[in-house]
Amino acid sequence: MRRSRDPPLSGPLRSKAGGSKRTPARYGEARGPDDELARALRHHRAARYEEAVPLYRDVIVRDPMSIDAWLNLGGALVRLGRAAEARAALRRGAALAGGDPRAQRDAAAGLAAIGALEEARVVFERAVCLDEAAVGARLGLARLCLELGERDAAISHAERATLSAPSDASSWLELHRARFDDRALGPAIEASGRALELRPDYAVARLFHGAALAWDGDASGARAALAGGVLDAGLVDAVGFCQAHRSTARVFSSTRQTLLAACAAATLGGPVVELGVRHGVSTRLLARAAGGHVHAFDSFEGLPQAWHDKARGVFSTAGEVPEEQPNVTFHKGLFEDTLRRSWRR
Ligand SMILES: C[S@@+](CC[C@H](N)C(=O)[O-])C[C@H]1O[C@@H](n2cnc3c(N)ncnc32)[C@H](O)[C@@H]1O
Repeated sequence: MRRSRDPPLSGPLRSKAGGSKRTPARYGEARGPDDELARALRHHRAARYEEAVPLYRDVIVRDPMSIDAWLNLGGALVRLGRAAEARAALRRGAALAGGDPRAQRDAAAGLAAIGALEEARVVFERAVCLDEAAVGARLGLARLCLELGERDAAISHAERATLSAPSDASSWLELHRARFDDRALGPAIEASGRALELRPDYAVARLFHGAALAWDGDASGARAALAGGVLDAGLVDAVGFCQAHRSTARVFSSTRQTLLAACAAATLGGPVVELGVRHGVSTRLLARAAGGHVHAFDSFEGLPQAWHDKARGVFSTAGEVPEEQPNVTFHKGLFEDTLRRSWRR
């Protein structure tokens, strides 16, 4: 278990590949009086997304071509979990931004964060066409390709990122993730080792590197990588547990591979129950892979209470349920209520 005094998992450096931007950006030239935009940006920077959204909308009413307003509106809506509105705003911003690779990258990262993976890939690809050396877009693409089941493309994008930015540790860690194959670990270990040489305090790299060494049977190498108090004790224990089960268990570096392997290994028939849907990425995958009806449970209000370093309400979609799908039933409400109700039926 993670304890409150444990250091954060990610240390001082996070990957540039995952998630959307927390802070707003400026893309275009100021196009006239933009006090409202400046106020929106101030709220946005202070994580007051609810206040920022109507101000961005006011700017758009005055200036429907404002790239800053559309893209930052999209970014604020992503933070609020309001996927449908965010998607519309990010699409509009990306269309207006045309040849600006940074704007395209940010639009793509926002789309990826709300689970619009295919659309995000198209926009990231636009960003790397505009700037082949764009590291953030390459890393975003690498992560997306892995989640879309295209490992070779993921490796190629991550390699391109390491060529563009050879001293960027997060590019090497993304290459580790793309290369990861629990039955041939050498190439992944080489990449995470490089990330750690560049940033010895990079906690996620330390965890991935140590876990890969443990899985590869190098117990002393793993101990050295995991030592030093950078990682919390629970994670180190988990690696030890995995190591003990490595002859029978498998490990993967993407949610997609993990869920597909779990579906393939399932021996019981009947419906699939998913607890925690958010934007429905895993639900869509299960609906395709599990071969039965999926019952997907979520309050769509985020975590009901704080959990480790995550505040209550994190992962909320502000009540928004993903689009309907033929073999999925969404059960909206707290697990403790909805599971009991469905069980009785
Ligand atoms: C990390 S997200 C799920 C991500 C999703 N499986 C995916 O791969 O995209 C966790 C979700 O669990 C939901 N959740 C957590 N605790 C819950 C509870 N007790 N009752 C209902 N929903 C809950 C949150 O609303 C949130 O959407």
